Amino acid sequence: MAMVQDDARVVDQQEVAERTFRLRLRSERIAVTARAGQFVMLQVHHGTDPLLKRPFSFHRIMPEEGLIEILYRVVGRGTWCLSQCSPGNHLKIVGPLGNGFTLPEKDDRTVVLIAGGIGIAPLHELMVQLTSNLQADKRHAIHLFYGARTAAELIPTHLYSRLGIMVHCSTDDGSSGYQGYVTQLFELMVNQERHRPALLYACGPLVMLYHVARWSLAQNVPSQLSLESLMACGIGACLGCALPAPHPDDPMTDSYLHVCKDGPIFKAGSIAWTKLQRQPTTPQIYLYN
Ligand SMILES: Cc1cc2nc3c(=O)[nH]c(=O)nc-3n(C[C@H](O)[C@H](O)[C@H](O)COP(=O)(O)OP(=O)(O)OC[C@H]3O[C@@H](n4cnc5c(N)ncnc54)[C@H](O)[C@@H]3O)c2cc1C
Ligand code: FES
Repeated sequence: MAMVQDDARVVDQQEVAERTFRLRLRSERIAVTARAGQFVMLQVHHGTDPLLKRPFSFHRIMPEEGLIEILYRVVGRGTWCLSQCSPGNHLKIVGPLGNGFTLPEKDDRTVVLIAGGIGIAPLHELMVQLTSNLQADKRHAIHLFYGARTAAELIPTHLYSRLGIMVHCSTDDGSSGYQGYVTQLFELMVNQERHRPALLYACGPLVMLYHVARWSLAQNVPSQLSLESLMACGIGACLGCALPAPHPDDPMTDSYLHVCKDGPIFKAGSIAWTKLQRQPTTPQIYLYN
């Protein structure tokens, strides 16, 4: 169904980890059509600073209640303004936008999700849907590899364990779980032949997604990656969210995909990863941290 513009009421806002907020909004018309992996453009302030809406993935979709949730990290002025919202405030919202995750086939026995930092945001709704789709069949296993810089940045994961998901956490400083990058933990466990996936889903810093993409292409394991880019319009009009892609016929020629209308979910092979490092619209904070 087509995207809608709405005036969403803030129902709840909670700080769930360091600088990380979960915002619950009432928007019946968006909640009934939204899919995991899609996103909204959200007004973050009533004045003109910042002027542009900001993109946020669906963290939770509750169509029966007419509610959606986003999970966001405060990184600049817009997300700081958003963190000041209170229940009863209204925010202009446009969505649902972009494509969504494709759910696995019944034969995909082991499904792995890899989340880096705030990359857990779109994977939450995906996990809820995966568990309700696959749980009846006890032969399926779902693993979440979830990493952050430090324990304070991890959102609570007991809900995922309660859903029957096997959760493996890592932190860069070792304050919780494995010490190191989440991709290192994932590869360590896969090399021990414990969790070789039939399908991979991932969202996180670009450098993490690059490693996941490289692994999935080398191992011939299909993957669906949620990517980001700086966005002005979110609907394919400004062409500002372009990412380099391999040209279907000529590898010497540049080709582009647009995160808002071709994504944000991409297969690993759809992106020209080596050209991405030089991309001006790629948020540098995500490339190098
Ligand atoms: C499809 C999509 C879905 C997203 N979903 C989420 C989500 O669920 N939760 C969440 O917290 N964030 C999400 N983001 C990123 C979010 O849109 C940015 O963090 C936000 O726009 C920053 O706004 P700001 O005004 O606070 O920061 P700005 O003042 O605009 O920028 C502050 C810093 O953040 C960096 N930044 C700005 N935009 C992005 C971006 N898109 N990605 C990474 N870094 C950025 C800038 O380079 C700068 O260093 C998503 C982005 C896209 C494209
Ligand atoms: S954000 Fe404008 S074209 Fe994608």
